[in-house]
Amino acid sequence: MTTEIAKSVTTCRVCGAADWQEVISFGSVPLANAYLDKPGPEEAYPLELISCRSCRLLSLTAVVDPQALYRDYAYVTSESETMTHHMRDVVRLCRERIDAGGLVVELGSNTGNQLQLFQQAGHPVLGVDPAQNLAAIAERRGVPTVADYFNEKVATAIAGEHGRASLILGRHVFAHIDDLADVLRGVKALLTDDGLFAIEVPYACDLLERVAFDTIYHEHLSYFLISTLDRLFTRHGLRAIDVRRLAVHGGSVLVTAARMGSRWETDERVGELIAYEKSERLDTDARYEQFAARVHALRRELTELVRKEAANGKRVAGYGASAKGTTLLNICELTSTEVRFCTDTTPQKQGRFVPGTQIPIVAPGDVSEQPDLYLLLAWNYAEEILQREAAFLDAGGAFIIPVPEPAVYARQKVRQ
Ligand code: TYD
Ligand code: ZN
Repeated sequence: MTTEIAKSVTTCRVCGAADWQEVISFGSVPLANAYLDKPGPEEAYPLELISCRSCRLLSLTAVVDPQALYRDYAYVTSESETMTHHMRDVVRLCRERIDAGGLVVELGSNTGNQLQLFQQAGHPVLGVDPAQNLAAIAERRGVPTVADYFNEKVATAIAGEHGRASLILGRHVFAHIDDLADVLRGVKALLTDDGLFAIEVPYACDLLERVAFDTIYHEHLSYFLISTLDRLFTRHGLRAIDVRRLAVHGGSVLVTAARMGSRWETDERVGELIAYEKSERLDTDARYEQFAARVHALRRELTELVRKEAANGKRVAGYGASAKGTTLLNICELTSTEVRFCTDTTPQKQGRFVPGTQIPIVAPGDVSEQPDLYLLLAWNYAEEILQREAAFLDAGGAFIIPVPEPAVYARQKVRQ
């Protein structure tokens, strides 16, 4: 199947301006979640980051056809301890404000594990996710799911059939959507008068501070500041009423919005973060130039480190065949010559290959020979993984943690 670039971005999807700063270009890179059944010719697409000088949305230049990206999607929400703990926090935070027993709708609901927690707290729930394979899994676990994209049309139909929602939640999906206006019209059609729209997105401040260049891939069309989201919501008759910084996925924010005229007061955290963004000069070209320079330096250092270890006879493997991992390996031009295999707990990925690299993905237990060194491609789970791999570390194994600068983590010593 040929994947199409649906369009090249010309005007800003938040503010409509067309004045872009070119931040960084990684050349052509394959799609991060397009794991291969066997290595072979692959398509690659331009991966370029630009910044809107008017609202400071960070955007990719290319929008890949979502049909091709999401119909049969290999990304399965992690059931790791870190993520389950986080999802419980999301339930707790949202339930501080929403009606007991109110309908909760989630866009990009994946296999339904977040909604199941709302269900257990006594809420009727409905998932909306275009990936038919994942919607079927969610249905089997008892989470009703509409296998479609969330937009005005679908939201209006849901409101007609199920009534209006007290909470519409979108975790790590908003940055994947090109037509944000259609989604926000849908939100307004479906939300009760004082209902809440809560989104969790990677935070652009964290991307810059952590030099998390591997979170830049084709699925992530947008990288948001709070000031940018605030402007988007205002344009669509909504307003941000609260924001929380969260550790998940390398630094995210949970932003809660409500209708412009609703009863909610705006928490002071919103204004504080907007002021912080200004103090960090995130409204200037210079800050993005500095980021690009750090990315180039990190890429060089990391590639050299891995090549040096491999050349010294070390068996290097990847830990977690994450989408970030695909991006990192491709951008650093690392292949099966340096990284022998990647371990991953996701059955849908095992037995396949990391796009663009010829690196095979194996189940953690299937490792016939232990590596000497793991490149931590799921660095967002570093704490949990380093604890779990205590025996590997005790036996003299080590991890390379790639960001914000390459660091080797071993039992006795921490080398930079
Ligand atoms: P994830 O962090 O969800 O992000 P993304 O794909 O968006 O970059 O991916 C983590 C991957 O790592 C996922 O495929 C599951 C895998 N994984 C392991 O193999 N072992 C682990 O202990 C953990 C926490 C994750
Ligand atoms: Zn803009």
